[in-house]
Amino acid sequence: MLVSAKDMLNKAKAGHYAVGQFNINNLEWTKAILLTAQELNSPVILGVSEGAGKYMTGYKTIVGMVNGMIDELGITVPVALHLDHGSYEGCLKCVEAGFSSIMFDGSHYPIDENIAKTTELVKIAAEHNMSLEAEVGSIGGEEDGVIGKGECADPNECKSIADLGVTMLAAGIGNIHGKYPENWEGLSFETLDAIQQLTGDMPLVLHGGTGIPEDMIKKAISLGVAKINVNTECQLAFAEATRKYIEAGKDLEGKGFDPRKLLAPGFDAIKATVKEKMELFGSVGKA
Ligand code: 13P
Repeated sequence: MLVSAKDMLNKAKAGHYAVGQFNINNLEWTKAILLTAQELNSPVILGVSEGAGKYMTGYKTIVGMVNGMIDELGITVPVALHLDHGSYEGCLKCVEAGFSSIMFDGSHYPIDENIAKTTELVKIAAEHNMSLEAEVGSIGGEEDGVIGKGECADPNECKSIADLGVTMLAAGIGNIHGKYPENWEGLSFETLDAIQQLTGDMPLVLHGGTGIPEDMIKKAISLGVAKINVNTECQLAFAEATRKYIEAGKDLEGKGFDPRKLLAPGFDAIKATVKEKMELFGSVGKA
């Protein structure tokens, strides 16, 4: 059964570790992440962006697939199915479809509008026993080939949003989605520290988990980060393993073209990446 991310994140914050959010793209992705979480006895959050939701033919399909897998694979660790960077309308759709967690990304709105929309969603999420993530300060990343610098959130705005009763809060601290550029300045721990001082027990969320050095991940967890999002790193691992398989000509040997064989190295690579992250984040054995 899917659960809200609330308990797992409150436990993580109190226990000084983080739960990984791993974004899913298809059946292989979902199965790899769920099996790894079960093997490591770790709680896990499956992230679905609006784009990936569309790609997987809609939120209802995803809910059916994930619930079916939890049942058929005998998954007993806590699993939250979470909308990543949702619009207001996307959040409503996921509530209806049976997700257990949503993120409303109102960071591109003026703060008053972000507060107004987040307030409405706090009420709706509570009615459905779902967790709600809000965002302050935009998270940079590649757009049209230009890598935007991650903007640092205003700690006072973070407090205003945290006080609305959201479950967890994503705050920009110089992090970006995708690969980090050579000249990246690193995370702003000063900003993170100021945010945690004002928001207290609120589990903080670090987006753009791909490519952040281990020591920075550990420091971020020590300063209140309890959820870390990873997407690109699983994609890179999957693509590399699949490329090697094809470049070695294995798809041309026997029935090597069978998707069950062709996608197996990528599947294993996702499992290895998720394992590495769960160990680094400290969530192993915390289910
Ligand atoms: P990366 O793709 O950089 O790992 O970021 C994932 C993320 O933050 C999803 O919201």
